[in-house]
Amino acid sequence: MIYIRNASQLITVAGATAAPKRGREMEDLCIIHNGGLVIEEGRFTFVGQDDEAQRYVQNRAKKKKEVMVIDASGKVVTPGLVDPHTHLVFAGSRELELEMRLKGASYIDILKQGGGILSTAEQTRAASAEELAEQAKQRLDRFLLHGVTTIEAKSGYGLTVEDEIKQLRTARLLSRVHPVDIVSTFMGAHCVPKEYKNDPEAYVRLVTDDMIPLVAKEGLAEFCDVFCEQGVFTVEQSERILNAGIQAGLRPKIHADELEPFGGAELAARVGAVTADHLLKASDTGIRDLAKAGVIAVLLPGTAFFLMAEPAKARKMIEAGVPVALSTDRNPGSSPTESLQLIMNLACLTMRMTPAEVLTAVTINAAHALGRADRIGSIETGKQADLALFNAPNYVYLQYHYGINLVDTVIKNGIVAVS
Ligand code: NIG
Ligand code: FE
Repeated sequence: MIYIRNASQLITVAGATAAPKRGREMEDLCIIHNGGLVIEEGRFTFVGQDDEAQRYVQNRAKKKKEVMVIDASGKVVTPGLVDPHTHLVFAGSRELELEMRLKGASYIDILKQGGGILSTAEQTRAASAEELAEQAKQRLDRFLLHGVTTIEAKSGYGLTVEDEIKQLRTARLLSRVHPVDIVSTFMGAHCVPKEYKNDPEAYVRLVTDDMIPLVAKEGLAEFCDVFCEQGVFTVEQSERILNAGIQAGLRPKIHADELEPFGGAELAARVGAVTADHLLKASDTGIRDLAKAGVIAVLLPGTAFFLMAEPAKARKMIEAGVPVALSTDRNPGSSPTESLQLIMNLACLTMRMTPAEVLTAVTINAAHALGRADRIGSIETGKQADLALFNAPNYVYLQYHYGINLVDTVIKNGIVAVS
């Protein structure tokens, strides 16, 4: 039994397991002051005031030594953070592109010249499964150190049947051996590989007719994603790919309106996507459509920051009733960070989300973005015991003392994973 005593603020984010929070609901964190909680067999079994928690522990624990007490005085406790959009498994890095971009090259120009995603694809194809696992494991370790207990991981740097499967199998293996849980997304439609440059339609067919059925048959992913963008996949191709995924049982996600207004948000609503991600350039109609269809906007302010672009219009989306989640977008080109805390800071400071909205966006709404809100994303009895303790007297402080890691302790599945 683990007893966490006397948290200055116990942020439960309770009460939204059925549907993501939107509008004003995103501000309601269901905070317990001087909170206490108990974990038994990997689940929360008591959540409430600390004096009651103490009585619960005294009644339940036969011997004192059965109880591990963690003192949370002066600290904030939150649900384990959830990162619903990463490209975890890949080989290498692309710091030279940063220099090129600083000299004026654009992200999409670099891709068109065979760099960008294509250069990571080359390195990922050349890497063995063991090498990929080793590199991805280091990233996962850093996520955990920053308070993240569940992440999504997309394929999309293999771009052949074999190499996409290699990436997805690596994610599955890591999820089994690492404390951080991984939810996999198939993203063979991340980019048209160079060998299909002159016949992109043939690559779309490879994705819809060969890759998707195989990935679904092997149970290697729960979601299907596509980079719907000028110069990558058209709206029509993206729709075909997402529909092929739906037919095979893969729920749709979409990289939408990142670089140009392109109709990606509208497409997300049309196909009933679980999430539409990026949305820097989403149109007003697109935002309205997302709200109406209940699509979660996964916003990635770290990507906007790193690409030196205007961030998404989070305020407009929240006011329109779009449920918002936040993520690192961890990838080697447009967002090479595992610090979801920094992303939270950027969400406040560049998109004017409030500290309360930010916490909702990285907990219960992020859990909804992964179809996991029944198990994770809030601190409620019966839920999986994933949590983070922060060296902060209140939750606003998390956005105030910015750019550093404020994590004190992380518990994953009822086990202390970072202390
Ligand atoms: O989410 N936009 C497309 N894909 C990634 C970047 C991938 C890369 O540059 O390697 C993203 O930003
Ligand atoms: Fe991405």
